[in-house]
Amino acid sequence: MTQIVPIETTTNARDLVAGIDTALAATQDLNERLRLIRAAIPGRITFSTSLGLEDQAVLDAIATTGVDVDVFTLDTGRHFPETLDTIADSEFRYGLKIRLVAPEASDVEQLVRRDGINGFRNSIEARKACCNVRKVLPLKRALAGAVGWITGLRREQSSVRTAVPFAEFDTSFNLIKINPLADWSLERLDAYIAANNVPVNALHARGFPSIGCQPCTRAIAPEEDIRAGRWWWENPETKECGLHSPARHAARQSA
Ligand code: ADX
Ligand code: SF4
Repeated sequence: MTQIVPIETTTNARDLVAGIDTALAATQDLNERLRLIRAAIPGRITFSTSLGLEDQAVLDAIATTGVDVDVFTLDTGRHFPETLDTIADSEFRYGLKIRLVAPEASDVEQLVRRDGINGFRNSIEARKACCNVRKVLPLKRALAGAVGWITGLRREQSSVRTAVPFAEFDTSFNLIKINPLADWSLERLDAYIAANNVPVNALHARGFPSIGCQPCTRAIAPEEDIRAGRWWWENPETKECGLHSPARHAARQSA
C-alpha cells in the first residue's frame, strides 16, 4: 500500500492533499482508495451521500472495507420517495446508519413565507436561496468538526466538473475534500454497481441518471447529457447548488 504522511506530522496541509492526490491516482481500486484516505487523515472523516449511483458505490466500499467514516445525507424535505426508499434499503443491506441532516425549520418557514412553496422556479437567485436553506447551511452543520469530507463527484459529470481533483483543501469548509471517483467513467461505475450487486435508486431505471430534489429533477432522453434533468430550465454554468465550488475547479484546470 502507498504510504502517506499523516496530517499531524506535517505543518502543510497542501503536502497532505498532494500526497493523497498522488496515492489515489496510483490505484484504481475503490476499496484501496478508501483505506488510503482513512490512513492519511486523522480525526473524523465524513461522507456525504445523495444516494445516487456514485455515492452508492462509495457506500458499498465503506461497508466492505469497514473504514471508520461517518455517513450522512442532506434531507432537503423535497426528495423523491424512491430516494428515501434507497436510504432504508442501504441501511438494511449494509447494516449501518445514514445520518439524516435536515434544514432548520425556521429557515424553511421564512423562505416559503417569502418566496412561496415552489419559489425556486421564479429566478436563479430564488433557486439558489432554496438550495442554500435546504442544502448548503445543513451541509455546514454536517461537516463541522470533520477533517476530511468524501464526495462522489466525477469529472465526467459536467462541463464544470472536468477538473475535479482526487483531493483538495476546501477553503469554504476548512477541511480536506476527497473525491475518490474523480477519474471514474460511467462505464466503470456501472460495472462496479453490477459486480457488487449494490442497491440503487429505482429511478435510475426510469431515465434519471442524476437525482436531486423531486421538483428540480426530470427524466432525460437517451441522447441527453446525464445532468440535463437537473434544474433543466437553467444553463449548465449555473447548475450547481452551492455544495461544490466549480469556480475553484475551473481555476485549477486553467492553471
Ligand atoms: S448537486 O450539487 O448537483 O446536487 P450531485 O447530485 O451531482 O450534486 O452530487 C455530487 C455529490 O454531492 C454527491 O456525490 C454527494 O457527495 C454530494 N451531495 C449531493 N446531494 C447531496 C445530498 N442531498 N446529501 C448529501 N450529499 C449530497
Ligand atoms: Fe430547493 Fe430545488 Fe435546490 Fe432542492 S434542488 S433545495 S427543491 S431549489
